Amino acid sequence: MNYSTDNLTQVNLTLYKNAEEASMYTANTIAALISRKQKEGKHAVLGLATGNTPKRVYQELIRMHNDEGLSFQNVISFNLDEYFPINAGDSQSYTYFMEQNLFAHVDIKSSNIHIPHVDGSSTDISKYCNEYEEKIASYGGLDLQLLGIGRNGHIGFNEPGSSFDSITRLVNLHPVTREDAKSDFGTLENVPQQAISMGINTILQAKKILLLALGQRKSEIINKAIYGAVSIDTPASILQSLPQVEYILDSDAAALIQK
Ligand code: PGA
Repeated sequence: MNYSTDNLTQVNLTLYKNAEEASMYTANTIAALISRKQKEGKHAVLGLATGNTPKRVYQELIRMHNDEGLSFQNVISFNLDEYFPINAGDSQSYTYFMEQNLFAHVDIKSSNIHIPHVDGSSTDISKYCNEYEEKIASYGGLDLQLLGIGRNGHIGFNEPGSSFDSITRLVNLHPVTREDAKSDFGTLENVPQQAISMGINTILQAKKILLLALGQRKSEIINKAIYGAVSIDTPASILQSLPQVEYILDSDAAALIQK
């Protein structure tokens, strides 16, 4: 149930009682876009995210595929980021995550899936990154970008200090990001130092942006990102000024927001 829209600041903020309801709303929004585009005979170009936050959303999309005939035949997907270097088949890779959590369970064409995975031996990463940008543009840009938020305010792997003009590129991971990834990799030493990430500018070009934040551990950063200063120190803060952004929060993530 949508029970709050913050009119004072024009921020499009939707609060849900719990993670389940927030995830259902997010999945429904994505599914509605896919279906609408299908009726129009068009592609739905989706920017997708990894991490704990979107997992339940993907489960619901899979359920809709199985039970309600939601088809992904017209979906073109571009993932936000991928570790570098990493083998695509490693269980910590985002390529693996997407396969396990969504792609293997729906009818998306494998040729329509794009994840910024670069072979560790690649000598021309910036060429790869530019081609990733061009590919997004060739489909007319992202219709919808799904985002989580890091505890340090990152979106994708655009860490604090990332330029708002940034495009897809090789980035260094922030200590907080590496710490949060430790449980996936066993030890901090095993967490890659770098990643390929869409840039902030890449994300801002999306026609619709859904930022999903769940749980108490996101409450501090979400308050800062929505109501704090717009600064490259908090990359997500740039989203405040954009009309196409919708924040979808559960009550724990919204705990510090002054109503
Ligand atoms: P999480 O990560 O969904 O695992 O909390 C979000 C992010 O870092 O963007």
